[in-house]
Amino acid sequence: MQGLFDMHCHIIPGVDDGARDMNMSLAILKEEKENGVTDIIITPHFRREMFETDRTVVLERFLAIRKEARSVFPDMRLYIGCEFHSNMDMEQILASDPLYRMIGTKYVLLEFSSVHNKAYIKERTYALLARGYQPIIAHIERYPALARNIDLVEELRDIGAYIQVNADALIGKDGWGYKRFTGKLLREGMIDFVGSDAHNTSDRACHIGKAYTHVVRKIGKNEADRIFIQNPAEIVRAAAERS
Ligand SMILES: [Fe+2]
Repeated sequence: MQGLFDMHCHIIPGVDDGARDMNMSLAILKEEKENGVTDIIITPHFRREMFETDRTVVLERFLAIRKEARSVFPDMRLYIGCEFHSNMDMEQILASDPLYRMIGTKYVLLEFSSVHNKAYIKERTYALLARGYQPIIAHIERYPALARNIDLVEELRDIGAYIQVNADALIGKDGWGYKRFTGKLLREGMIDFVGSDAHNTSDRACHIGKAYTHVVRKIGKNEADRIFIQNPAEIVRAAAERS
């Protein structure tokens, strides 16, 4: 049965600051299931000088967790993606290995840092679009350069970027400011994806189910299904087309 998607989370054991070991990975998956999630794109970090785990190790551990999950959660489908932290030669890095992209497709979950300015964010986003990639800007509510400014988010969408926000921001777990800003984006129809960004089962846990209920209440089931099911399903479809 098709349930919700989680397209941004850190569940592969021991490759970034997400799940430490297989037990933690399975505990997060259990929570995903309790949230009504059936399809998960796991997105381990790639960030220079911080998270540079070799992609062959990432793939190996992904296959291990997927194998384990198939016996414990047979209704769940796991896919491999990446949360890619921007840099000046990311076009070449992204082209070098499909594991830097979302299920090997043209979709790239693109992260910026809190010190990047808006010109850099726009230029890097555009650089990916110009190379035929489809950037999805990760947790857009977080970047001070966008100053929680809806016009700047609109500019990024106008050039072709997709926008992701975190479930915790929408439901208020990340504070009032993020809740207000993401609520505004929601009402303006500017959110394309919601991810849990789950790293564990405590302070950064999965709240996709709660966020889905919240979005249904705010803008209706059709729009909620577009964000939590149809848009991420499009990435899976694009991946199937590639293979
Ligand atoms: Fe993340």
